[in-house]
Amino acid sequence: MRRGRFLVVEGIDGCGKSTQVARLAGLRGAVATLEPGGTELGRSLRRLILSEGEPPAPVTEAFLLAADRAQHVAGVIEPTLRAGRDVVSDRYAASTIAYQGFGRGLERSELETLIAIATGGLRPDVTILLDLPVSAAGARRGESPDRMESMATDFFERVRSGYLALAQEHPEEWVVLDATASLSVVSAAIDEALEERGLS
Ligand code: TYD
Repeated sequence: MRRGRFLVVEGIDGCGKSTQVARLAGLRGAVATLEPGGTELGRSLRRLILSEGEPPAPVTEAFLLAADRAQHVAGVIEPTLRAGRDVVSDRYAASTIAYQGFGRGLERSELETLIAIATGGLRPDVTILLDLPVSAAGARRGESPDRMESMATDFFERVRSGYLALAQEHPEEWVVLDATASLSVVSAAIDEALEERGLS
């Protein structure tokens, strides 16, 4: 049986990822999932990661996210791909490099090790970056920001530039799209990029 395809949508908070994840999964009959929180254990971890209260140290945050990812890969992503079905995930390992690395300043090579342990080396077939200026993303976010969404603008500027740097390093894996465009324009651009890569 052909293995399923693994598609990831990334971007700063408020870029419109969840809409595209749901649309893509619907189109492909894929499993739509997310990080953190794609498993039962992960939903508990998500609460720990995003709730107010004692803020985790940056390394603690990275470990909690890695635990969520390890459970997600083992319990959802890998079994689904093996069964021949596609997976579309709202965030994956690149979020850790962008947020905990570029955003929080943790060492990239250490995060790569953590990611390798959590994922067993599983990489997406494609990562779609919905790129948006930080000011535009802020305007799209909801009323009650979580711990991460409450970070200052310069944090999100670092995260955004981190994503763009990752995409430049691996152009064969990444598709970068201007998410300021309308939903229908962004949707069409995604579909076209997937077709070009033989992933539609
Ligand atoms: P998400 O639910 O995607 O938030 P939003 O819909 O607002 O984009 O992600 C939750 C938060 O977790 C988001 O602020 C990014 C953060 N995060 C990291 O910092 N590192 C990671 O590895 C992941 C997966 C998420």
